[in-house]
Amino acid sequence: MFHHCVIHSTVRRRLTAIFATISLAAGISAASAQGSSESAPRRDAMITPDPSGWLQTHTSTGGIDTGNPFFQSLGTNGRSCNSCHRQAEGWTISAAEVRQRFADTDGTDPIFSLVDGAVSPVADVSTVDARRIAYAMLLNRGVLRIGMPMPANAEFRLSAVDDPYGYASARELSLFRRPLPATNLIWDTAVMWDGRETFTPFKPPMDAGVDHADVRISLASQALHAILGHEQATASPGDAVIAQIVDFELHNFTAQVVDRQAGELNSDDAMGGADILAQQRFWVGINDTLDNDPTGDAFDPKVMRLFDGWDDPTARFSHDSGRRARAAIARGEQLFNTMPIDITGVAGLNDVTGQAVIHGSCSSCHDAPNIGNHSMALPINIGIADASRRTPDLPLYTLTNYATGQSVQTTDPGLAMLTGKWADIGKFKGPILRGLAARAPYFHNGSAATLMDVVDFYDTRFNVHMSSQQKSDLVAFLSAL
Ligand code: HEC
Ligand code: HEC
Repeated sequence: MFHHCVIHSTVRRRLTAIFATISLAAGISAASAQGSSESAPRRDAMITPDPSGWLQTHTSTGGIDTGNPFFQSLGTNGRSCNSCHRQAEGWTISAAEVRQRFADTDGTDPIFSLVDGAVSPVADVSTVDARRIAYAMLLNRGVLRIGMPMPANAEFRLSAVDDPYGYASARELSLFRRPLPATNLIWDTAVMWDGRETFTPFKPPMDAGVDHADVRISLASQALHAILGHEQATASPGDAVIAQIVDFELHNFTAQVVDRQAGELNSDDAMGGADILAQQRFWVGINDTLDNDPTGDAFDPKVMRLFDGWDDPTARFSHDSGRRARAAIARGEQLFNTMPIDITGVAGLNDVTGQAVIHGSCSSCHDAPNIGNHSMALPINIGIADASRRTPDLPLYTLTNYATGQSVQTTDPGLAMLTGKWADIGKFKGPILRGLAARAPYFHNGSAATLMDVVDFYDTRFNVHMSSQQKSDLVAFLSAL
């Protein structure tokens, strides 16, 4: 265990009081409770509403230091980290909130900037209507345009480009990607979707601790590049400012804490919420599927153990609907851990292990206990960027292998843009799965508008044949993370 964090008792008391009020509101059915000042949940800076309940951020200080340079514009376009990493949206952005921001400002909020906010850096943004078109990808999917040149010495060339916005070329591919949450970062094993800010591949340490320095150095590099890129600064603000930002990020822990139907996610033996999350045991390689746990322990598919106690019809809860909601979350957790998935055709997994079919589950890939990313860096291609899933709003790139003459089409080459390797096309990391409800849409390109869309993707991609009950249980569980 490397992260000790004792919840300050006054904070605990304060939160307990708030949760008592919230669960009262959550338990009262629909309309009658709405708008009544007695039953409405009390507002607290650390707890924010989201579509399925309330999200909590925990910090060691018990508050968010909005004086941190994370919240300051450090460049030339008025943006700060907080333009794209917002507490209420799980420290990223949601497409819904971005649409609200557009409506509030007629598309002049600093997030709407040509550098990477628009579909092309030369789009017309002279009128509100033009801006609605130019920023359509941000508004519809919550994605930014990451521009990257074809890598030098790649094993492949860009043989065709179909860019609906007429901009992308080998000089700069347009890659539309979701901001990743600037929270729970202490457990990141690869920084950025393609891992490009990972300082060194994080390795299992010799002892049971973790070398914090790797995450810290990676995040410092990431922050500097964000300031120079997204914020268009002309120079670094200096190492001291960067260190303050990284400190801030490393002390954020975020998770869903109250579900509208199931109530407090950390009551009656459940272990949801950010306070408990902040104490999660972790080291690089913990519970690794591919036998890299430095303790030598074998992989245990029971990765999520937050709601073990809730699949009990006699469980204490004042309302039937609440009891049913809790049982659904518990069943969803079981499905996540144990529902058989025959994993096939995943580059980085099936080819690396030499197994054409891996009899796994959601937890095979999302193996870090109660966190949900992979406990070692594991760039893999599950098919999100495949040509078969291309929608007309995404550019499509044809890549041709110099050696074999073989061609492949993709909307985002992922890791291959860094390594130039044919085998790395379409590889991305699996993100941390906490605080999901607050931050739709999902996947690197925002192609899943809802958590049900995520579940449907897996059902189709791996021919799971889930029942509608199984799907809704999984969604109930994912929404409670
Ligand atoms: C204009 C929007 C925007 C701004 C401003 C911005 N980011 Fe990001 N951030 C993104 C996007 C998009 C990604 C994912 C890009 C990718 O993976 O290719 C990202 C990724 C990250 C990640 C990676 C998290 C992970 O798990 O890998 C961190 C950390 C981060 N940003 C921190 C910051 C900090 C710190 C700042 C301010 C200095 C900042 N960002 C400013 C959009 C933004
Ligand atoms: C073969 C490995 C693998 C399996 C199995 C798998 N995932 Fe994933 N998961 C990933 C990867 C990789 C990503 C990121 C893909 C991307 O965006 O390109 C991901 C992304 C996600 C996301 C989106 C997170 C975000 O922030 O956008 C959710 C939610 C998710 N997975 C849930 C599940 C569930 C539920 C299951 C089981 C039904 C499952 N995963 C099975 C590898 C896997």
